Amino acid sequence: MTAHIHPRGDVAVLVPAAGSGVRLGPGAPKALRLLRGEPLLVHAVRRVAACPAVGVIVVAAPPGQVPTVQRLLEPVAPVTVVPGGTTRQRSVAAALEAVPDQFDIVLVHDAARALAPPALVAAVADAVRAGHDAVIPVLPVVDTIKEVSASAEVLGTVDRSVLRAVQTPQGFRRAVLVAAHAAAAADDASDDAGLVEKQGVRVRCVPGSDHALKITRPFDLAVAELLLDS
Ligand code: C5P
Repeated sequence: MTAHIHPRGDVAVLVPAAGSGVRLGPGAPKALRLLRGEPLLVHAVRRVAACPAVGVIVVAAPPGQVPTVQRLLEPVAPVTVVPGGTTRQRSVAAALEAVPDQFDIVLVHDAARALAPPALVAAVADAVRAGHDAVIPVLPVVDTIKEVSASAEVLGTVDRSVLRAVQTPQGFRRAVLVAAHAAAAADDASDDAGLVEKQGVRVRCVPGSDHALKITRPFDLAVAELLLDS
């Protein structure tokens, strides 16, 4: 497969977009749900492509929808589209295989975080370029967090000062991400840094963005709509 490469950029961005999105209710795959008339994936790719450091974008599409996604993104940015897998982890692994050899910095960015700004993409890539093998954007946790049993009994209160909510894009030295995916046994990682941590690699945090919220439920779509105007 031939990838579309922008000569300016040294960063490859993988966009897993093959999820069904059941929590948004019945309908199209989540990445294809509309936010002010445009699919979430279009919003996400437009912002990724606006970051000058980005040289190639690989999207993992729902397997039956590769041509649809290709057509959809044609006017937005040059992208390579591959069929995703049955889990997020498999979709990322499929996209990773399509990254041309010369890219040493790889970011993974959920299509569901459709409004993550180009500056966040740049900040994560810069931190990898500065020498960190793995980089994640994080926000402080504002709610009090409790551990709760299956029967709804509170087991304890967690010290939230040491907790962070983790976003995407997450950035990696390519070899680190490839090794982590190769070693991953079960399909249970909800993010790529989780796989890398298991390899004993240090993961560096950088400040996240409120705009990089994950659009999971109908409420999030309403918030995202407001953010488009802000
Ligand atoms: O399901 P979840 O919200 O954790 O999905 C996060 C991201 O992973 C979404 O952008 C979704 O489209 C993607 N995904 C994927 N392939 C799957 C499942 C989820 O690319 N099989």
